Amino acid sequence: MVHVSDLSLQYCVGCGSCYKTGACIYKDDIENLSLSVADADGIIIGSPTYASNVSGQMKVIIDRGHFVMEQLLHGKYAICVTTYENYGGRDSTKILNKLLLYSGAKISASIALRNRFNKNPMEDIRLKQRIEKIVNSFLEDIVKRRRYRIQGLIHSIIFRMGIQPFVKRKGLEYEGVIKHWKDNNIVC
Ligand SMILES: Cc1cc2nc3c(=O)[nH]c(=O)nc-3n(C[C@H](O)[C@H](O)[C@H](O)COP(=O)(O)O)c2cc1C
Repeated sequence: MVHVSDLSLQYCVGCGSCYKTGACIYKDDIENLSLSVADADGIIIGSPTYASNVSGQMKVIIDRGHFVMEQLLHGKYAICVTTYENYGGRDSTKILNKLLLYSGAKISASIALRNRFNKNPMEDIRLKQRIEKIVNSFLEDIVKRRRYRIQGLIHSIIFRMGIQPFVKRKGLEYEGVIKHWKDNNIVC
């Protein structure tokens, strides 16, 4: 379990070094986090809702985490969880779902939990049971390699018609991305 707010992180400055070389100019906790994600069978990603969006800390992870271009979640299963108090929980869930889908993950579940400020949602027994069910199904997905055909189709359209041609047009500027795809059998 990684608490985003404990990490030492720099903002993305848009230098393009990761696209060219595969590595960020900053050697901070996000680079290590990306390596752990690349090793995982699945991830559970969560954020509170701040102003109908994910938290600022989560946005830095999204910008710096090598997710979409490098297809970091290719072949992995994922759950996204957001909390909110009043309004906008679905907006932040949508942002995390898009990140997961565009990065190649299969989304086992996405949850928007309405919860009072600083209250532990797991104190609600019914909610706790619902979450346990979702987590068991997530683990089963990983073990049985469950197929999510519609998500696979949507991802394939986005990747083949949007991301891949864009990267090819960029040529050498994106050679780090293409190398990553080849090394990870995302393209041959
Ligand atoms: C800066 C800030 C902005 C927030 N914006 C929203 C919001 O737009 N909609 C909402 O329902 N709750 C909002 N909240 C409440 C949090 O989403 C809610 O407290 C959180 O999900 C519960 O987790 P916590 O235990 O970390 O507080 C906001 C809280 C903070 C601190």
